[in-house]
Amino acid sequence: MKKDFLSILDISKEQLVQILKEAKQLKTDKKKGKVNDILRGKNLAMIFEKSSTRTHISFEVGMNELGGHALFLNARDMQIWRGEEIRDTARAASRYVSGLMIRAYKHSTIEEFARHATIPVINGLSDLEHPCQLLADIMTIQEHFGSTRDLKVAWVGDGNNVCNSLILSTVLTGMEVTVSTPKGYEPASDIVKKAKTMGGKITLVRKPERAVKDAEVIITDTWISMGDDDEREERLRVFARYTIDAALLKLASPDARVLHCLPAHRGQEIADEVMEGGQSLVWDEAENRLHAQKALLIRLLGK
Ligand code: CP
Ligand code: NVA
Repeated sequence: MKKDFLSILDISKEQLVQILKEAKQLKTDKKKGKVNDILRGKNLAMIFEKSSTRTHISFEVGMNELGGHALFLNARDMQIWRGEEIRDTARAASRYVSGLMIRAYKHSTIEEFARHATIPVINGLSDLEHPCQLLADIMTIQEHFGSTRDLKVAWVGDGNNVCNSLILSTVLTGMEVTVSTPKGYEPASDIVKKAKTMGGKITLVRKPERAVKDAEVIITDTWISMGDDDEREERLRVFARYTIDAALLKLASPDARVLHCLPAHRGQEIADEVMEGGQSLVWDEAENRLHAQKALLIRLLGK
């Protein structure tokens, strides 16, 4: 296992299988009330430059449930916000805690932390990737469909951080992903190239109808990611035809399921009828953040 988890491709196929197996066991144990304190005495520092509900709660609860502890650190209250160098913060923090989870605007910030920290660093979302989200998404898909192999997956909306991690994950899962975005909002071209070179099956299209046709899984996310707020009006206009509503869902496989990492904006990227409908897996997906990350934490911080 690599020291850090900055990208979904920082783990191998075999490690993903192991993490998901462990996550499933942890989920079963939790339902039975069985306690597992494998991370007793370990502390995870969680640095947030941006808002969070799920990532904050699931990492904090995850550490507590494993017998450890998590510290919530708003970056604005830290010396880095006043100009302390990342390398100094990373080295000092490494003397106190067993791991660092960071949510940052720039991916390079998290990379710099990882370069200088002597403890594992986890990407809790950057402008480039959201790998922890993908662990939960893959777990949810596997739970529902039994396997991810050759599954037809459609991404509808912005080619953002979650989309980039989904694209890279095809290398590990064998899922076939068709991404539909408006012009100018495609996923990062080097990410698409990397996934394709490594055997990932990725198709980029314009129209959501094309991506969704016969898809077994449909995934979307906000049109306005954290950091994009000043483009709000423009984005609402450009993405107007990219809503996953009942009509679009009808084009997919009749057994298709819908994922959304949340927070959702009903009436924008997803219609209320789809969020609340029988084909939505969003609450299992949110729950699985906890189990998947606990398995990841055990791998990275355990002995
Ligand atoms: N999906 C996700 O990362 O949610 P939060 O922004 O609430 O952490
Ligand atoms: N793409 C979204 C994901 C939020 C969990 C963002 O970066 O804001």
